[in-house]
Amino acid sequence: MALIDWRKEFETGVEEVDHEHKELIDLLNTLHEKLGTDVSREEVRGFLGDVFTNISSHFALEETVMRKHKYDEYQAHKSEHEQLLDDLRDIMDAFEANEALDYKSTLADAVRDWFVNHFKTKDARLHRLLGV
Ligand SMILES: [Fe+2]
Ligand SMILES: [Fe+2]
Repeated sequence: MALIDWRKEFETGVEEVDHEHKELIDLLNTLHEKLGTDVSREEVRGFLGDVFTNISSHFALEETVMRKHKYDEYQAHKSEHEQLLDDLRDIMDAFEANEALDYKSTLADAVRDWFVNHFKTKDARLHRLLGV
């Protein structure tokens, strides 16, 4: 079972944004699937790094768009981005410190509800309002 399934309610009305969101979900689903299987530490580290890089650059792009358009809910939106990046950093730190943690469920807890809510509320509002 995939960690996150794409839902119609995630659509923002902007094709490129939806496409990027789908790619982020695919990446998270792949990482989640790999965790708990026989993958090497190197592979997990690589995946965690890719997930973090892709998510942060997606957020950075969105924040640039918001600043450019003087978006009214910029701060609240950016705070949600930062909260997720903090949680992902914690997971990466725990991994580097070799902490005995259930990474599969910790990742699921950190990202599943976050993405579902963020897409439906923050991103949907942003992209519908600005059209970009
Ligand atoms: Fe987004
Ligand atoms: Fe966002």
